[in-house]
Amino acid sequence: MPLAQQHWVIYDTDPGVDDAMALYYALASPQIKVLGITTVFGNVTVAQATTNALYLTHLTGQPQHGAIPIAQGAAAPLAKHTEAPPDYIHGKDGLGNQPSRSTNPTPRAPETRSAAQFIVDMARRYPGQITLVPVGPLTNIALALQLEPLLPKLVKNVVLMGGTVTEPGNVSPVAEANIWNDPHAADQVFTAGFALTMVGLDATHKMLLPVTLFEQVAQAHKHPATDALLHAVRFYANFYGSRFVHQSGFEGCFGHDVLAFVYLTHPQFFTTETGPIRVVTEGIAQGQTVLQRQAFMQYPQAGWGASMPVSSACMTLDAAAAKEALETALLGPWL
Ligand code: BDR
Ligand code: CA
Repeated sequence: MPLAQQHWVIYDTDPGVDDAMALYYALASPQIKVLGITTVFGNVTVAQATTNALYLTHLTGQPQHGAIPIAQGAAAPLAKHTEAPPDYIHGKDGLGNQPSRSTNPTPRAPETRSAAQFIVDMARRYPGQITLVPVGPLTNIALALQLEPLLPKLVKNVVLMGGTVTEPGNVSPVAEANIWNDPHAADQVFTAGFALTMVGLDATHKMLLPVTLFEQVAQAHKHPATDALLHAVRFYANFYGSRFVHQSGFEGCFGHDVLAFVYLTHPQFFTTETGPIRVVTEGIAQGQTVLQRQAFMQYPQAGWGASMPVSSACMTLDAAAAKEALETALLGPWL
């Protein structure tokens, strides 16, 4: 595929099982070129997130994946206290407690510059061409904004996994985990003026991925990368099966982060609503994403009104089509 038709992406991630799934979908998709990976705390510490990004890119055995720059980012939120990583969801290592890391050592080191600096440098180098795909807390993007306030004009767009409009939250009745983990950063990102699409729980809770899909992929490739993904997904599905009401009786999981990339490759699978999005930063609704759904209302309250940038929020998903796109990409000749 000619480069002009590809999405040039910086993937900001806290891997994380669904983050790993998303990375492999991106690497398997000819429509996407991953120019760099930036890491952030969240599902694991930032050091572990970096270790996992190095590991996952090395494990494919493809030199072009092993050459993707990886820059380590924020270890903690901008303002709120740091919480312990949810090892009961993603495993202590973030990838479902991989058994074979020692036999798959990672031979390279991350970038010496920070994630925020990497994002700014790449945006200045390729103005108007880069899509930021953050799928963890939005701390690195907020820090990049501090370094370069013109960032919203320098990047093409932002497609993030996080938040929710009408679907109940997954860490509180109203908050989704990525936004909850750094609500102050998230509010800065939503109000900075990016061309921004939020792929939140309204879409991601519509698609359940069976473990059998990843078994099929592992069986087809017989490769350490797809074996590692299957191992991680089994751990993750075990959490969802035991704890989440949507999942009872079903061996599988949500694909959350992968849907940010599916939005890039197949936006027609989603419907969206537009309006300003703000984030509640304090109190019992902390981490709630609030979409102004009625454009005709001119709310006079501070923080709303005509000056607020307008974003898009994904509201529905053609889950069967998205699942098929994931399956087709992962079964393709990318390894
Ligand atoms: C989000 O939270 C993390 O646990 C996942 O990786 C995903 O980014 C889902 O709420
Ligand atoms: Ca994530």
